[in-house]
Amino acid sequence: MSNEASTSGKETLTVRDNRTGQDYEIPITDGTIAAKDLGQIKIGDDQPGLATYDPGFVNTASCRSAVTYIDGDKGVLEYRGYPIEQLAEKSSFLEVAYLLIHGSLPTKDEMDAWVHEITYHTFVHENVKSFMEGFRYDAHPMGMLMASVGALSTFYPDARNITDADNRHMQIVRMIAKMPTLGAWSFRHAQGKPFVYPDNDLGYTANFLSMLFKMSEKKFEADERLVKALDTLFILHADHEQNCSTNAVRSVGSSEVDPYSAVAAGVAALYGPLHGGANEAVLRMLRRIGSKSEIPAFMEGVKNGNERLMGFGHRVYKNYDPRAKIIKKSAEDVFEVTGTNPLLDIALELEKIALEDEYFVKRKLYPNVDFYSGLIYEAFQFPPEMFTVLFAIGRTPGWLAQWLELVQDKDQKIARPKQIYTGDRQLTFTPASERWA
Ligand code: CMC
Repeated sequence: MSNEASTSGKETLTVRDNRTGQDYEIPITDGTIAAKDLGQIKIGDDQPGLATYDPGFVNTASCRSAVTYIDGDKGVLEYRGYPIEQLAEKSSFLEVAYLLIHGSLPTKDEMDAWVHEITYHTFVHENVKSFMEGFRYDAHPMGMLMASVGALSTFYPDARNITDADNRHMQIVRMIAKMPTLGAWSFRHAQGKPFVYPDNDLGYTANFLSMLFKMSEKKFEADERLVKALDTLFILHADHEQNCSTNAVRSVGSSEVDPYSAVAAGVAALYGPLHGGANEAVLRMLRRIGSKSEIPAFMEGVKNGNERLMGFGHRVYKNYDPRAKIIKKSAEDVFEVTGTNPLLDIALELEKIALEDEYFVKRKLYPNVDFYSGLIYEAFQFPPEMFTVLFAIGRTPGWLAQWLELVQDKDQKIARPKQIYTGDRQLTFTPASERWA
């Protein structure tokens, strides 16, 4: 991280506490001050030090990280320094997973070994199958995924040994390998179809498609263009620095629990509609608009504040989300195979109008990753409940790379934010027998 050169040459912040008139000089490092340095600012020795109040961590760095770089104003996303556009075009999901976990691109031998390891850990214990069968017929696949990832910790109790590097590697391989199996089985359960075992002759994403869609055929061979499109979607979702689910993985992982439990927390966070669910909302919106002729009326509603253009705008990106550009191209490739989705025409027209409209231009509202992803998933015939499961499979290497960084970071401590207490104090307790007398 680099800072603009300071004009005074001093990398410090001078603070005057107007309650006491005292001045403090606080070091600035990497554009931040250490929150603990504010602790010295007190109105008396027996009083608590100054703290910051930051619900949702909107202006608080919780870690140092070398995994993912985002410049929201310029629309830049890089994994380990490599631009997302290049990775999406020229790499594969497993190579990107290697990059995120190991920090550098693999040699040929390293890649072969990595693919071999992942491929041979795709099977799950038969008991996993039994308990997945125990879910109700209409269980949400994301709930099933969350529970089954957490349950893996009971199958691999050695995973608790998080200080051993080889052991950590073993669990990382297992988790990346087994996520598609668990995700596909959650889908099959909801459809009332038998579970399909992994086919180790197939690549990672082709095998996932086989476990999802294979019926009585000897071998399921998905169209290469669909395999590439889904693999690209996994790459685009692989990491996004300190988002809600990654923060959940880090926060739970800071207790030194095993990585299956920490990743289950990440899946839980992603389950929420504010995080993983926006692409489903885009589809609902496009269906509601129904035809291009209805777009002007819908846009009026958005500008009057009665509607939101779902799939537009982002907390970090104030420019075109670089992932949305790539997804738009993938959508074209997918529709070449599956035939076009009539909702695509409405989406393209909405985007065209919004990008020229003063309301959106002024507020820097551009398409985000979710604007086109739902359309692609629908073309694969995934029901909306599966969208977040796909996101979770893609995000797993990112969660694990961040977890790995966390457990090796000497600065990290168990996550334990402060609070501003707003309740009563020093009340006198009256026993129930007297209160109710
Ligand atoms: N449609 C219409 N107006 C919008 C939209 C939108 N999609 N997004 C923001 N605005 C307006 C908002 O009304 C506000 O206007 P004003 O200044 O007049 O009050 C201004 O733009 C700033 O919006 P904000 O709500 O303060 O921005 P935020 O950073 O808090 O919210 C957001 C970001 C993603 C929640 C929001 O843009 C939104 O609700 N978008 C639609 C939902 C969506 O697509 N979510 C997926 C996000 S990408 C997922 C991921 O990366 O994990």
